[in-house]
Amino acid sequence: MNHKPALAAVALAASLSFAGTARAQEQVNIICSVQAEWCNLIQTVYGKTTGVKVNMSLKGSGEALAQLIAERANPKTDIWFGGTGDPHLQAAEQGLSLEYKSAALPQLHDWAQAQAAQSGFKTVGIYSGPLGFGYNPELLAKKKLQPPKSWADLLKPEYKGEIQVANPASSGTAYTMVATLVQLWGEDKAFEYMKGLHKNIQTYTRSGTGPIKAVARGEATVSISFVHDGPGEKLQGFPVETITPAEGTGAEIGSMSIIKGARNLAAAKKFYEWALTAQAQQFGAAAKQFQLPSNKGAKVDPNVPDFKKIKFIKYDYAKYGASAERRRLIAKWEKDVNSLPR
Ligand code: G6P
Repeated sequence: MNHKPALAAVALAASLSFAGTARAQEQVNIICSVQAEWCNLIQTVYGKTTGVKVNMSLKGSGEALAQLIAERANPKTDIWFGGTGDPHLQAAEQGLSLEYKSAALPQLHDWAQAQAAQSGFKTVGIYSGPLGFGYNPELLAKKKLQPPKSWADLLKPEYKGEIQVANPASSGTAYTMVATLVQLWGEDKAFEYMKGLHKNIQTYTRSGTGPIKAVARGEATVSISFVHDGPGEKLQGFPVETITPAEGTGAEIGSMSIIKGARNLAAAKKFYEWALTAQAQQFGAAAKQFQLPSNKGAKVDPNVPDFKKIKFIKYDYAKYGASAERRRLIAKWEKDVNSLPR
């Protein structure tokens, strides 16, 4: 006797939930590996202009890769935006990202197109930035220390406990350092150097930007950082300068990938195309992030480091983005460097 109203309620609920599904807001799930200000700006602007709900999760490059490996059987991520290129190449090699060839590729700098080509179009370069040092001139003066000019300078005993760098397992910035030093001097000399450097390290942080933020706030004197992370801190009024090492340095190719098995594939592709436009790439500088945009048409902010003035090594992205090599170097760093007493 009571069945009728109950059935009617179920039918009504079902029709409502069906209508709900039909009208469900389009969404895209993004892991964002640049700084929070840029991630948040993209979330707001893209959401407001397209009506798409952007679910954003902030993770360093190494941590993002670890999450994508963990959720491989049931991916919850549609797009991985930003972070250093090496782990994006590793994701491509491991079949975690989807092959996708954007019609916008010819609008990008050669280095960004090369990143796409060598991954079988499973990732693409969205920005680039040089590795170097950040330092706090006020703190250096107070401690009567000179700013470091070279990798060699960082080994000086007077810098003991003054330097911060991130941990290469979680941070793409720190992995870029490991790979840069290995390419600069060969593996044996690079690891001897990192053992020496270890004695001067105050803390290994989880995120790549932690060290320059600590320097800016007077909690450390020198950091090993991407130099484009300096001007944003300075614009906030913190005393921080940057320099690239005299011996030569590496650069990241910040990348973006669509995740294989993405639940919101159409939305992911739309976001990807948007993120490659000159207009979208200007939101980096708008959020006070000063990497060089990969779209040749994007305006280059005066705070972006001048690549022509920097001595670069010829960074072998394919070799150091390969899974086995990245895993091997990080494990070796843990065993030979990080386990040593300081
Ligand atoms: C910062 C830099 C980016 C870089 C990222 C890597 O956000 O501005 O250019 O790609 O750090 O972060 P990670 O924590 O992986 O070193």
